Amino acid sequence: DNACLTLAIETSCDETSAAVVAGGRQILSNIISSQVPVHQKFGGVVPEIASRKHIENVIPVVDEALQQAGVALAQISAIGVTYGPGLVGALLVGVAAAKALAFATGIPLVGVNHLEGHIFANFLAHAELEPPFVALVVSGGHTSLVSVQDYNQFALIGQTRDDAAGEAFDKVARVMGLPYPGGPQIDRLAAAGNPAAIDFPRALTGKSSFEFSFSGLKSAVLNYLNQAEQRGQRVSQADVAASFQAAVVDVLVSKAVQAARFYSVDRLVLAGGVAANSMLQAKLTGACTEQDIRLYYPGAVLCTDNAAMIACRAYYQFCSGKVSDLYLNAVPSLKI
Ligand code: KG4
Ligand code: ZN
Repeated sequence: DNACLTLAIETSCDETSAAVVAGGRQILSNIISSQVPVHQKFGGVVPEIASRKHIENVIPVVDEALQQAGVALAQISAIGVTYGPGLVGALLVGVAAAKALAFATGIPLVGVNHLEGHIFANFLAHAELEPPFVALVVSGGHTSLVSVQDYNQFALIGQTRDDAAGEAFDKVARVMGLPYPGGPQIDRLAAAGNPAAIDFPRALTGKSSFEFSFSGLKSAVLNYLNQAEQRGQRVSQADVAASFQAAVVDVLVSKAVQAARFYSVDRLVLAGGVAANSMLQAKLTGACTEQDIRLYYPGAVLCTDNAAMIACRAYYQFCSGKVSDLYLNAVPSLKI
């Protein structure tokens, strides 16, 4: 129903975002105010600074989202907001803003799980996509395989035991002297390197496990760089980037395809910031073609944090009566 307009706010990490979506799937506006330049000089997100920036940005960003969509607040059917997982102080800013708007207007409030939001970005990007499918969510904070049985029915298949895939990209980039966020930097550098140059470990692949582990890989890259330095050997940055990236991608691809087969679905959905990785997209496309699985992933803007995906998720919750009350609180370690 395109008359149903959802406004959403996303402040879980370092982007302040607000969006208006019609009928759950049509983006009317998706304003993203990135704090990347602010955090770059510290080599990563500084939580306290993120919270303060969200406070400055949240109301102007909401205003801009409504204005660009050409709708008044009174026309909104539901207000969605990310309440976890994420940085507690950052989440609280969005939650407080959404609660204030809901309280002042009487518009229903819908608390949204950020990971579910990432998955739902695919509904915005692909009009024909419907559950059931298996989703691989790969971001700075998460690496999870999720069975999406229906719009409001999920089951966690497996997740990382330690570092998230994006976290591994960011940490490896940092030791290589590349700026934050490191994922896109490694992606670019790797294009000129040989992915078979260095044999970095692929964890937990032998067993039929749907869990991931990336901290050993991160240490292996660190050891490789340290040893080369001690021996005075020159290393090819491009080869290190390509070989590291290949190790991450191999594991992600094999487990995602395995999960789709195990759950007997012929659709696989890729989501989260790392979904923008060019090698992951290429290798997963190849593997899915081979296995007769249809692969979906969003464009770059909808891969990384944005409020449109939260508005989409909020729509489907709202339609099934899954609304929140004004006691909604931030839950930093919220599970799927
Ligand atoms: O989903 P997202 O914007 O925020 C979280 O919810 O964490 O994901 C950000 C993560 C960062 O770790 C960033 O380095 C990674 O996604 N990323 C990439 C690429 N673009 C973003 N990693 C690998 N290749 C990329 N092209
Ligand atoms: Zn995210």
